[in-house]
Amino acid sequence: MEDFDNIRSFNTFTSQMRKSLYFLFWYSTSCGSLFPRGSEGSSQDRHLSGRSIPDALQQSFIDYYFVWARDCNEHRKSCRTLCRLELFSAKAIEAQSNLRNTKLAHMLDFLNNTQGKVVKIEELIFTTLINTLSNILFSKDFLDLKDDETAHRLKFGLLKILENSVTPNVSDFFPIVGGLDLQGLRKDSLNHLDELSSFSEAIVKERRARITKKVVVADHEKDFLDRLLENNFTPAQINILVLELFIAGTDTMVTTIEWAMAELLKNKEIMRKVQKELTELNHNSIMNSDLSKLTYFNACIKETLRLHPVVPVLIPRRAIEACEVMNYTIPQNAQVWVNVWAICHDPSVWEDPNTFKPERFLGSNIDFTGHDYEFIPFGGGRRMCPGLPSGVKSLQTMLASLIVGYDWSLPNGEDPTKLDMTEKFGVTLQKEKPLELVFRRRE
Ligand code: HEM
Repeated sequence: MEDFDNIRSFNTFTSQMRKSLYFLFWYSTSCGSLFPRGSEGSSQDRHLSGRSIPDALQQSFIDYYFVWARDCNEHRKSCRTLCRLELFSAKAIEAQSNLRNTKLAHMLDFLNNTQGKVVKIEELIFTTLINTLSNILFSKDFLDLKDDETAHRLKFGLLKILENSVTPNVSDFFPIVGGLDLQGLRKDSLNHLDELSSFSEAIVKERRARITKKVVVADHEKDFLDRLLENNFTPAQINILVLELFIAGTDTMVTTIEWAMAELLKNKEIMRKVQKELTELNHNSIMNSDLSKLTYFNACIKETLRLHPVVPVLIPRRAIEACEVMNYTIPQNAQVWVNVWAICHDPSVWEDPNTFKPERFLGSNIDFTGHDYEFIPFGGGRRMCPGLPSGVKSLQTMLASLIVGYDWSLPNGEDPTKLDMTEKFGVTLQKEKPLELVFRRRE
């Protein structure tokens, strides 16, 4: 195996891994065999609906996971039901729209005051998304747009836990030495978790005290934390769920918006068409009702998720029972890694797969809802991303507002056609060089 330091892009990584016997990858659209429709489909999907909890996350609260839950156990079911109802349903998304707009307005105000200065786009979006989520969950801002240091600390902690979970770990290959935590990954994750808990600990304590004192709160004033406490979630269970939601719902979004902006900046003609479509709406701020009408803009979002699928390999699945996929026998407990990146770049499905071409989605019904197996950036089946509806709406409103309101340029007059688009390998497919831009308000 070549030196991993030399692996600069995910493309190189997948070519390397094709040779490896450690992992099972699907390279073709026959990934449909994993989540096929019909009665056979539902049992196949069930067989592959487990996950393996990496040793780095094997803490004493192992039964509290949602994203990493080993199987569809009772706790995961109640997390999923509550999240569906309170966070991801159409009704919940509608109820959150004022809050989302307020947080977006704060971000745009902040940008108005940075006229001419260089802005690291990932930090700005991260802070806005964290505050949106922390208000939905706890009715409180966790970060301040002007305080880079705390934002950096939170982002670093979340990424570190994610990174530890996929770092090759001797304890995963030889569970017998697991207790020794030879690489210190479990200890490190626990330290970060403790630090991240400090953001919510006091609020949870205060809210529990409110319940003990039987303070009455009107139903419409209750937030997600109130619902969790009503459903008897313990502080540790709340901690883990919140951590998982922050991990799943921020880096994915930040990275997708960053890639979309980089592609639009690099492809001037495409940007011009998007700006035309958005300005034809004839209003200054983007309304929810506008979003579905923006055919070309939405094709750009799909094309970003195809060319740069932010979760390049689905969070690994585990066969809860032995089963057969494409004539291969998958033994019980085997890990199944679905290579979304390779599927989305398969030249037998996508013409000119390495080029950003939103036009390919015009007049096409292909969508990312988990039914078109050549395009599954949100996964598929029963472990598919439940954050898709709210996530896509946020992506659309944030990106559209940045396009309508501002002209973007690179610092020091750099040429956008030469923008470095190198991908950095990780759990999420980040841009190796974070995008830095100068924003000027459009009149
Ligand atoms: C661009 C945005 C996003 C992308 C591309 C994305 C992608 C994914 C993918 C690929 C998976 C694994 C699916 C599978 O195994 O089949 C996943 C799982 C998950 N995502 Fe997302 N996600 C996004 C945004 C969000 C948001 C905003 C949230 C919530 C705040 C969220 C919450 C989750 C959760 C809870 C899971 C675990 C589901 C389970 O195991 O049952 N995601 N996501």
